[in-house]
Amino acid sequence: MVSFRNYALTALALTSGASAFTLNPQQTNIPSLRSSTSLSMSTIEAPVRKPETPERVNEVRERFRSAAKDAANARGCASPDQNDEWWRTAPEDFSRNISKDDPLRVIVTGGGVAGLVTAAACHAKGMKVAIFEQASQYAPYGGPIQIQSNALRALERINPTIYEEIIKAGTVTADRVSGLKIGYKKGVFLGLGKQYEKGDWLVKFDTLQPALDAGLPATVVVDRPVIQQILLNHGIPDGTVRIKSRISNYEELGKGKGLKINLDDGTTAYADVLVGADGIWSSVRRQMHGLNSDADGFAASGAAGGALTEGEARRMAKDSVLMASGANRRFSGFTCYAALAEHRASNIEEVSYQILLGKDKYFVSTDGGGERQQWFALIREPAGGVDPEPTPENPTPKLTRLLNEFNNEEPGDKNGDVWDDFAHELLKATKEEDIKRRDLYDGSPLITQGWARGQVAICGDAAHPMMPNLGQGGCQATEDGYRLAEELSNVKHTSDIEGALQTYFLKRIPRTTIIQTIAQLGSDLLVDFDLMMTIPLVGPFFLMATQLSMPFILRFLYTPEF
Ligand SMILES: Cc1cc2nc3c(=O)[nH]c(=O)nc-3n(C[C@H](O)[C@H](O)[C@H](O)COP(=O)(O)OP(=O)(O)OC[C@H]3O[C@@H](n4cnc5c(N)ncnc54)[C@H](O)[C@@H]3O)c2cc1C
Ligand SMILES: *[C@@H]1O[C@H](CO)[C@@H](O)[C@H](O)[C@H]1NC(C)=O
Repeated sequence: MVSFRNYALTALALTSGASAFTLNPQQTNIPSLRSSTSLSMSTIEAPVRKPETPERVNEVRERFRSAAKDAANARGCASPDQNDEWWRTAPEDFSRNISKDDPLRVIVTGGGVAGLVTAAACHAKGMKVAIFEQASQYAPYGGPIQIQSNALRALERINPTIYEEIIKAGTVTADRVSGLKIGYKKGVFLGLGKQYEKGDWLVKFDTLQPALDAGLPATVVVDRPVIQQILLNHGIPDGTVRIKSRISNYEELGKGKGLKINLDDGTTAYADVLVGADGIWSSVRRQMHGLNSDADGFAASGAAGGALTEGEARRMAKDSVLMASGANRRFSGFTCYAALAEHRASNIEEVSYQILLGKDKYFVSTDGGGERQQWFALIREPAGGVDPEPTPENPTPKLTRLLNEFNNEEPGDKNGDVWDDFAHELLKATKEEDIKRRDLYDGSPLITQGWARGQVAICGDAAHPMMPNLGQGGCQATEDGYRLAEELSNVKHTSDIEGALQTYFLKRIPRTTIIQTIAQLGSDLLVDFDLMMTIPLVGPFFLMATQLSMPFILRFLYTPEF
């Protein structure tokens, strides 16, 4: 039997990825957030739902397509053929005073959210930056992500133009209901003998009020390629990202004396600071923590962790099992299918985010803007699994599986549960080739190992990989980038770098540890959800605890201090 504390935390973690809000009639006359892009703390107002016009639908979808094309063509990135970059030569003396004319030289490994934000933040502070990205093109996994209120504030502080562009491109979801639903007829309502029917709300909540209370803007949903495009166009000079550049290792030249960084292609780079923003299978972390050679690998050749092809996705599933043991990362127990469906959801006007809960699986869906729905199907099974190849009898193996797992007609799924129609509605609107699958890994907080050694630091998923339940992975990476640049901007002499990086770690570790832990507990205990709902008192108690404690968690997440 799992303790109460765990149940309560599960409940929190389960729900807090959502952004729910029960509409208050008084708020309906307040101008929409979308129409105002120059927000400051004093003018934050509650967003009001405006149905999407055909023009906006078209705009959002086109923007996504053009950003995805830019990403595939690595637009704005430097070609590896260039040979006159600043990092090719070391300064005369690495150990030196830092000034406007002789700024810090920062190299970032990895061009995902963490790398791009960190580079933008360092650039904004006048540092020289370069990003080395192993991939040949950007291939983000999954559809849009939530950029929550806390990350929006970090972006605003880093560079107001980035913030405004993100708000403009984003879709506000806080103007509708969100929460947890039961996937099928189950459980006993308050122990009173009434069963929950499929699709009944278990918990609803509001992420808007905690954001407004903290003076933060409302969470938005933005396509990953669009986020990358905005950061590339407005955050860093053209050519800052060098693609097809995998860092193999680094050499420390002494305290305050810089680093020599070696790429797989034989290129050498010199910098004062190296930031490993190279994701969960971080090469920089492997060296920093002295892990064995299995701990990293060319897991996904698509930048930002997305496999480019089905073949790569299959290889990644197998490779990850090996790397996880070398890197002390943890398989969450879930594999995750994801896609973005161009579909006007039947619940679009009322619901922005919902989770349909079931036994050993759950189905998450969120408004992706532009009349598109993003969905994730999380299913418990051993790591390393792959889908069968398409055959003439079964040309769509992924869809076939998912339609069975979430069957909405008798005889239901393999447990005999007949699911709410909504999962089928979205699955039917999705093409097989648009469905991406990935096993979900996370890791324990690196409290004793640390995130920095000498003049090298890690951030983002490299430092704190977490389950997606809270929708905070990218948001915490954003806060990291902000904090790292703040601390580095205090460096007066290169011998101060080490201390600045330790301060960065010490300021970030308590917050990310709590967030990582909540996300992990939530995910672990989801397994027991189905069972729990059948126990009188425990089920209702769990739901009540969730409902009551959500505001506390959200207040913790939505703070302007990070
Ligand atoms: C299903 C799902 C839903 C999610 N939803 C949300 C959400 O709503 N909101 C949110 O904030 N977060 C969300 N996240 C989390 C978010 O996706 C991650 O936390 C975020 O992408 C991490 O960014 P990163 O830059 O640290 O790592 P990555 O995106 O993994 O980028 C690392 C990059 O480093 C490169 N690289 C690796 N090794 C090397 C090397 N040796 N040399 C050079 N380059 C290298 C890789 O190619 C890659 O491009 C979600 C995650 C999942 C799985
Ligand atoms: C570096 O800065 C210190 C303190 O401001 C100053 O005393 C010193 O002369 C400077 N060194 C050089 C080489 O400019």
